[in-house]
Amino acid sequence: LPRDIFPGRANSAGVDLADPATAAALKADLAALDGAVWEAAPTVPAGDAAPAREIRAPHDRNRLVGISRDATPADAALAVARAEAAQPAWNALGGPARAALLDKAADAFERHQDAILSLCQREAGKTVIDAVLELREAVDFLRYYAGEARRLFASDVALPGPTGESNRLRLVGRGVFATIAPWNFPLAIFIGPAAAALAAGNTVVAKPAEQTPLIGALAIRLCHEAGIPDDVIQCLPGDGTVGAALTGQAGIAGVAFTGSTQTARAINRALAGRDGPIAQLVAETGGQNAMLVDSSALPEQVTRDVLASAFQSAGQRCSALRVLYLQDDIADAMLEMIRGGMEALVIGDPEDWATDVGPVIDEESRASLAGHVDRMKQAGRRVWQRELPQACANGTFIPPTIIEIDAIGDLAAEQFGPVLHVARFAADELDEVIDAINGVGYGLTLGLHSRIDATRRKVERRSKVGNLYVNRNQIGAAVESQPFGGEGLSGTGPKAGGPHYVARFATERVTCIDT
Ligand code: SER
Repeated sequence: LPRDIFPGRANSAGVDLADPATAAALKADLAALDGAVWEAAPTVPAGDAAPAREIRAPHDRNRLVGISRDATPADAALAVARAEAAQPAWNALGGPARAALLDKAADAFERHQDAILSLCQREAGKTVIDAVLELREAVDFLRYYAGEARRLFASDVALPGPTGESNRLRLVGRGVFATIAPWNFPLAIFIGPAAAALAAGNTVVAKPAEQTPLIGALAIRLCHEAGIPDDVIQCLPGDGTVGAALTGQAGIAGVAFTGSTQTARAINRALAGRDGPIAQLVAETGGQNAMLVDSSALPEQVTRDVLASAFQSAGQRCSALRVLYLQDDIADAMLEMIRGGMEALVIGDPEDWATDVGPVIDEESRASLAGHVDRMKQAGRRVWQRELPQACANGTFIPPTIIEIDAIGDLAAEQFGPVLHVARFAADELDEVIDAINGVGYGLTLGLHSRIDATRRKVERRSKVGNLYVNRNQIGAAVESQPFGGEGLSGTGPKAGGPHYVARFATERVTCIDT
């Protein structure tokens, strides 16, 4: 592959919040949407509408954001049947025509940025900067995969014909893809896999996360507004039972799922056990992400990058830092700086632009994280935790927390929130620490702060992770520049926003013509 697949293509510039006029206009636009009540429903309901489910802001459970009329198993069956009927024509459109529609969808997302940012804040509890980054990533996925549709699907590939025959290979859509999205990137990781499936010539039935159906439904409406036909991408809001009804349909040729490792395994079993084609599964799951900091690291840079990696987005990124390994001779000083930084973070209402750390997504998540912190305290671990401000009383918040542990193996599970574990290692224990991190079985992100080239080379050679970040934070992979995704318990690959992603959604056909 060339180094730059799409010369001249650039990721979205986003919204410049530092520009006073832009910021003032955006604040006014968001304020105007403050009381809006949004709706989600199956694109084409099969029968009577399901009862309304209220969606409330994670940071203030008294605030209604919208209602979802969740899909039923009959809706799932109808959506897949419609998607199957629509797929041949969508595939026959060809890569460049599909790309043009994906580009138009990206334009529609940008045109409706106020609604999207407002919903990212109110439905998903995102800070304004996280909301802006979310929109940017969604737009980048749409445009990058549009480029892939042009690159991979515009024409057949001519192959050698050593005995005089003509051989050609072409990529075509597999059929209908079910895409099942997470709540932590309710727009970007909702639309990213769907856009890749569409680029490859599939039709899509998309299920937003149970917690964030309103953003998903808006995204699908904008795709339709952009000219993607209604049956080519459909929306099925609901909980795991809707996902199970969808992946159980014989008409599904592939599933792109982002969420827990456990659910990915359940989907794999369901796909194996039903009729229909042997389905492709693209799964992006969890991580137990570590960062290694040796005594050659720059302390201020480490502090900044640890705070961002562990606490930005309230730690609710699959890439987020969970276990920080500090070399023992700098550990006390480093920990003091990081704790000082943690004290300075502003916790509270994500719609207040000064806020650094907003809520976690729901009560189940809050209770699970709080239970973990209590268990660690009971086990005699040293714990530093911020007080929650009074303003957090009506929401589901976990304050930024640091817990000392001995090693990554002390942790039973990934803690999906602003909880950072810290362990120490001696200079001669680096190999052992890498083995311990690899031994957990996840393989998503790893951070390294070191100025020693030999250390960087060793970590690069020995660690089994999808994304290694050296001397920077380990979140916020940029489309095209840092294709993102893990291995082992962290997912199947291929990497989102990378040059091998879209092809996985296609199947290959070869024609051989003899003379
Ligand atoms: N793509 C996101 C990140 O890199 C995933 O959580 O942070």
